[in-house]
Amino acid sequence: MRDAELSAALLHWYDRHARVMPWRVSPQDRARGVRPDPYRIWLSEVMLQQTTVAAVRDYFHRFTTRWPTVADLAAARDEDVMAEWAGLGYYARARNLLKAARAVVDAHGGVFPGRRDGLLGLPGIGPYTASAVAAIAYDEPATVVDGNVERVMARLYAVQTPLPAAKAELTALAAGLTPDLRPGDYAQAVMDLGATICTPRNPACGLCPWNHACLAREQGCQTELPRKMAK
Ligand code: ADE
Repeated sequence: MRDAELSAALLHWYDRHARVMPWRVSPQDRARGVRPDPYRIWLSEVMLQQTTVAAVRDYFHRFTTRWPTVADLAAARDEDVMAEWAGLGYYARARNLLKAARAVVDAHGGVFPGRRDGLLGLPGIGPYTASAVAAIAYDEPATVVDGNVERVMARLYAVQTPLPAAKAELTALAAGLTPDLRPGDYAQAVMDLGATICTPRNPACGLCPWNHACLAREQGCQTELPRKMAK
């Protein structure tokens, strides 16, 4: 399959199997013109950086109930935010969250920068988070690469180079597949595929929309990929 056919097949799968998440706009609502809230997308992506979707749900609900907008969060007391964050770990994330919220209010009039490059200038927003927010909230064709996406790419293209050396190659492969149409849904679809079908141990290849194109499956080495450099 060509790149355009691969991304179309994945989007078709996502239209039927997208996971429901409190911050997510379903592909059906998205098609009706409902726009994701950049504040909620940013908050969820920061929470998800080192934490599972299941653990993030309740925290996300409490944060957005108490601070429904970025201006509310910017006006919060530091100790209240740190207390709500307690248990999520990696506390630098919470400190940067507040710094970024205040920067959005003070330097950007309370509106999130509308492009990946602008997002990159905010505290705690690295290449992954900038790409994820730009793609999901603004439908910018930014390439989102997390551990799930690396695994999916390594298998689809049977990349034998071990991580972390393979990172640049896997990112380039992911970029090649990112469509101009619906890049936000596409980014979420690859992450969902990695989390639910193309799992580390027992991938459900029979259910995968890419199974006929998957080189690792053809070679029978899918559970060995991605390879990792010996520590
Ligand atoms: N993991 C981190 N961000 C995600 C997202 N937006 N969709 C699915 N899995 C994710």
